[in-house]
Amino acid sequence: MSIKPTFLSFLLGLLAVFPLASLAKVLTSINQVKKQYDFVIVGGGTAGSVLANRLSENRDVSVLVVEAGDNNVGNVNLEIPFLGVALPGTNVDWNYTTTPQAGFNGRSIPYARGFVLGGSSSINLLSYHRGSDDIWNRWADISGDDGWNWRSIEKYYMKSSRLVPPADGRDVRSYVDPRDHGYGPIEVSVPGFPLPIDDIVLTSAKRLGGRFAFNDDFNGGNFLGIGYMQSTVGEGERSSGATAYLNPVFDRSNLDVLVNTRVTKLINTARPPNSTPALNKVELAQSSNGPRHQVLASKEVILAAGVIGTPQILQLSGVGNKNTLRALGIPSVADLPEVGENLADHPLLANYFEVQSNGTWDDVLRNGDVFGQTMGRWQAERQGLFVDSPGNTVGFFKVPSGSPALRGIQDPSSGSKSPHTELIFVDGFAQFGSVAQPAEGNFVTVLSAVVSPTSRGSVKIVSADPFASPRINPNFFGTNFDVLAMVQAINDAVSFMSAPLWQQVFKPTPFGDLATAKTDAAKADFARLRSVNINHPVGTAKMSAKGGVVDAKLKVKGVDGLRVVDASIFPVIPECHPQALVYIIAERAADLIKSQHRIQ
Ligand SMILES: Cc1cc2nc3c(=O)[nH]c(=O)nc-3n(C[C@H](O)[C@H](O)[C@H](O)COP(=O)(O)OP(=O)(O)OC[C@H]3O[C@@H](n4cnc5c(N)ncnc54)[C@H](O)[C@@H]3O)c2cc1C
Ligand SMILES: *[C@@H]1O[C@H](CO)[C@@H](O)[C@H](O)[C@H]1NC(C)=O
Ligand SMILES: *[C@@H]1O[C@H](CO)[C@@H](O)[C@H](O)[C@H]1NC(C)=O
Repeated sequence: MSIKPTFLSFLLGLLAVFPLASLAKVLTSINQVKKQYDFVIVGGGTAGSVLANRLSENRDVSVLVVEAGDNNVGNVNLEIPFLGVALPGTNVDWNYTTTPQAGFNGRSIPYARGFVLGGSSSINLLSYHRGSDDIWNRWADISGDDGWNWRSIEKYYMKSSRLVPPADGRDVRSYVDPRDHGYGPIEVSVPGFPLPIDDIVLTSAKRLGGRFAFNDDFNGGNFLGIGYMQSTVGEGERSSGATAYLNPVFDRSNLDVLVNTRVTKLINTARPPNSTPALNKVELAQSSNGPRHQVLASKEVILAAGVIGTPQILQLSGVGNKNTLRALGIPSVADLPEVGENLADHPLLANYFEVQSNGTWDDVLRNGDVFGQTMGRWQAERQGLFVDSPGNTVGFFKVPSGSPALRGIQDPSSGSKSPHTELIFVDGFAQFGSVAQPAEGNFVTVLSAVVSPTSRGSVKIVSADPFASPRINPNFFGTNFDVLAMVQAINDAVSFMSAPLWQQVFKPTPFGDLATAKTDAAKADFARLRSVNINHPVGTAKMSAKGGVVDAKLKVKGVDGLRVVDASIFPVIPECHPQALVYIIAERAADLIKSQHRIQ
């Protein structure tokens, strides 16, 4: 969603970045880093922040984190949940663009990724879901390691996050189950500023039942039905990898965090007669033609550069498809053809409904005074609309059995408790895509997404220059299933919005392209014309027992001294918002690493 430029400049101007005293421990010059550490973590993002914290718990272990973006501390723009939607395209984004997407009528779309400490968790829309138990059991099958099944992984979920009260402190016991939550640093809460449509959505779910049944806590293992959104918000502020795991340990003397610096490649330290390459040395640079520095990791290098950065660095280092790398003049170090393959993401479509109630937040984005008052409330007391990311309620659904979407294919979802589609209910006109908020009127947006897509794409470097963007092809709507599941989600949105409670005041009517798309074929055209993504890419360094890029312990196959810990290792795309899974895998990875190196 984009906020009007006037308000965005207001926001970015008034809330300029004020460096704080705690910046002291964050290094900005390559000359400040040592030549050697026990561990070098590439990318201070979501997973990288967890690893930095856990690996430096033992003060005898030295850790360097290298982050391409800037410090998060002091950047108020990152803290305001409602305005997370305004961050893509700004100085905390890598500003990638996809290749033209055939399934999107040849459109290219922006592809946001966090470029700041905390990575994408610093700029995301905060939704927090671990998905169904099924996801983890499927991962255990694919990796051949029961350590990834839900029974084994639950302790890492408990260790990574905890439930906190919503910003307004009201009693939410009937909308969330504390027994489904843990004790970790990431703060999770249900919306702290209830909106008029929340009640309509939740009460309608309770009355309708069936596919639309009420779910009293999506983090309880059953990921079907409709319920409150849960978000990484505590006391009205964003909780990210940076704020929860990294900033609190900045002052550890055995941890160095270097920002504004890219890892340009990994260097092979193996000497003959060793036949296995060892990629435990990194090359760093602060600008494309600036000097290169090298830092050795005496134990290992951990790639946590995310689904784009990780396969990019692997390929730049000679790890990938031998033939395509040779064509770019990069000598092969390990021939792993699946590096950069298997990219999967969730397509997203905004379905707009015009409503008769003025109980929507549309005017906040239209009227500078109302925007200023809302901002003032957040600044003064961390209350009001801005304590939540837009979208207080959400639903996850299976396409009905017998649906044309499933004809002739195996059900792509992880199991009986896992959905195919998602609907997010937003109390206003949320601009996701090319249609701008109309100057007048009140709206409800129902965002629809396909969460078990079968399309797979890729991330490929196009040159040996580490500062050149790789070619990103998510291959949206590359399969019939993905398009037909989206049509089902559009139909579900229309059908749910005609539930009796909506008719009392809101009286929603489909707006724009949705209004004119009457048949399923026309809805498919609408989806191809307007869909974007929900920024959930995974899979470009897939974990697998057979093939893939990393093994069940997340070590890169055929290479020593190198692990990958981030969303690129996901073997299949989960049917949920992925950040919770990133925290979980990073917590388990920290234990795997400590145990291999006998660190207490
Ligand atoms: C706009 C947006 C909205 C989203 N909304 C949600 C949501 O609501 N809920 C949810 O669950 N998920 C959401 N996601 C997805 C979720 O945030 C990501 O899946 C998750 O944060 C990925 O974590 P990661 O550790 O794999 O990568 P990241 O957190 O992206 O970390 C990678 C880090 O590596 C750094 N890096 C990359 N290359 C280099 C290099 N060469 N040298 C040094 N550093 C490098 C990057 O700057 C970044 O800090 C969203 C993502 C985006 C972008
Ligand atoms: C993304 O664009 C913004 C705005 O132009 C810019 O400030 C930022 O540096 C860009 N990000 C990168 C990684 O170049
Ligand atoms: C919204 O509608 C109510 C009832 O019709 C009215 O009293 C109120 O003034 C309206 N609010 C705004 C901001 O227009």
